[in-house]
Amino acid sequence: MLTYSYLCPPISVKYQIIYQYNMSFNKITAAEAAAMVKNGQTIGLSGFTPAGTAKMTTAEIAKIAEAEHAAGRPYKISIFTGASTGQSCDGELSNQQAIDFRAPYTTNPDFRRHVNLNELNYSDLNLSNMATQIRQGYLGPVNWAIIEACAVEKVGDKAHIYLTAAGGIAPTVCRLATEGIIIELNAFHERSGMGLHDVYEIEDHPYRKPIMICHPSDRIGKPYIEVDASRIVGVIEGNVPDEARSFKDPDPITTQIGQNVADFLVQNMREGKIPPTFLNLQSGVGSGANAVLGALGHSTEVPNFNIYTEVLQDAPVQLMREGRVLSASACSLTVTTECMKGIYRDMDFFKDKLVLRPSEISNNPEVIARIGVCSLNTAIEVDLYGHVNSTKICGTKMMNGIGGSADFTNNAYLSIFTCGSTTKGGAISSIVPFASHIDHTNHFVDAVITEYGVADLRHKSDMQKSEELIKVAHPDYQPMLRDYLKYAQKNGGHTHHCLSAAFAMHDTFLRKGDMRLTDWAEYVK
Ligand code: COA
Repeated sequence: MLTYSYLCPPISVKYQIIYQYNMSFNKITAAEAAAMVKNGQTIGLSGFTPAGTAKMTTAEIAKIAEAEHAAGRPYKISIFTGASTGQSCDGELSNQQAIDFRAPYTTNPDFRRHVNLNELNYSDLNLSNMATQIRQGYLGPVNWAIIEACAVEKVGDKAHIYLTAAGGIAPTVCRLATEGIIIELNAFHERSGMGLHDVYEIEDHPYRKPIMICHPSDRIGKPYIEVDASRIVGVIEGNVPDEARSFKDPDPITTQIGQNVADFLVQNMREGKIPPTFLNLQSGVGSGANAVLGALGHSTEVPNFNIYTEVLQDAPVQLMREGRVLSASACSLTVTTECMKGIYRDMDFFKDKLVLRPSEISNNPEVIARIGVCSLNTAIEVDLYGHVNSTKICGTKMMNGIGGSADFTNNAYLSIFTCGSTTKGGAISSIVPFASHIDHTNHFVDAVITEYGVADLRHKSDMQKSEELIKVAHPDYQPMLRDYLKYAQKNGGHTHHCLSAAFAMHDTFLRKGDMRLTDWAEYVK
């Protein structure tokens, strides 16, 4: 295991090295970089969520697209990323109709609107697979790697690229980019972050070796991406903050869900179902996940724990400061600017506790299954038998994408989904007869937790699962769900369904704006 102090020389020394070596690269503007990207080409971006995403060049590409379209010429590119990006990429490029194909995850509202108008080809993938699928050639070639760095050094004929707030697919796109690598040297990300990363790329099949991570803080790679220096076509200098999303503050519902999660885990520990040393925790994205992890950290009965996750948000960083989180492995620091600056300021504290990895390592199924992870993800809806929809509103409209939720859920020691029992002021129940889209089948879902309690689905038949799930539905919807089961049971089977009524609640919402108005007689045949 390499230690941080070995990896990261004192800042003053680093400044000298970087200053010296920056002089050896071709300095270009973002507009010049964008002009190199031609219609029909593919860019591979650093980053994972808006954290660490290259953002200077894409905004300029959007301007080129606008000008080309105004001149009546075609201009569309494809985009490979680690996860979501921000407005300067997904937002502006989709608004300019400049995206042909994009994978794998997004949270941008403009992009979502264009995807749901079917104006571009969006492929939702498990995030652990993205780099692998690029390498396998499934997604076609990558022409340009556009990489945000806090430092770039020239060492002989090699260049060492130090990433910023995320690992993503950067090592893979750097290696495979056919035209070259564009570096966005972003002074917003301080050079004290040079030791945050553990860059390790898996071998190609069939030569893969085990990934020797046995503890979240283990380091098995290098703190930088190494490439032939000649492949760096230019370095853009700038100072641009990450386009971090803000989170809704925890409310009474998310706080109660967090408490229910904590109580469930403590109970499992008392019963010997999870080890007394606790499990490594993974927590999903969004306001709900941030609030749940915060609540867990404040539970006096949950022991101090380690995190093996993909996205680290503000709440767990604060828990690290409080000593509740002992160490954390993630792919990105998707945190507010204040939190990010605090990490850079206090790198001496974080250096041996926090490590960022490429997404195929942070989300690697083999590592997750072996080290013992409790996964905590947020569901859009869950059906009466425990199948989970994480991605599609009413089965058709893309929300964000599956992200890493399946990477973790399918390989977790204990997999938990949380959600508020209702959304949109109570007009939508999160517990429904049949999920309108299924991302996680009930084989992988151990528990579903709402503000009304825990549906423990382990060791239960489908019909027993439905009883558990009705208990955690909102009281307004419990009678409705029981009615559905009454109609459904007439058809018998191992799992009871009345197919003509299975989506009655969704259909009622789409027609009347409220699931509570469902009249079963209209649907039961
Ligand atoms: N029907 C319609 N809308 C729904 C819905 C449903 N069943 N469930 C949630 N929503 C809406 C909410 O109303 C909210 O809308 P708003 O933005 O207009 O207020 C929005 O979805 C987000 O929901 P919110 O309750 O604020 O939760 P969140 O911020 O925690 O996000 C997910 C929830 C599911 C969208 C988010 O966690 C996600 O994208 N998950 C999939 C990827 C994933 O799990 N990644 C983590 C792997 S490590």
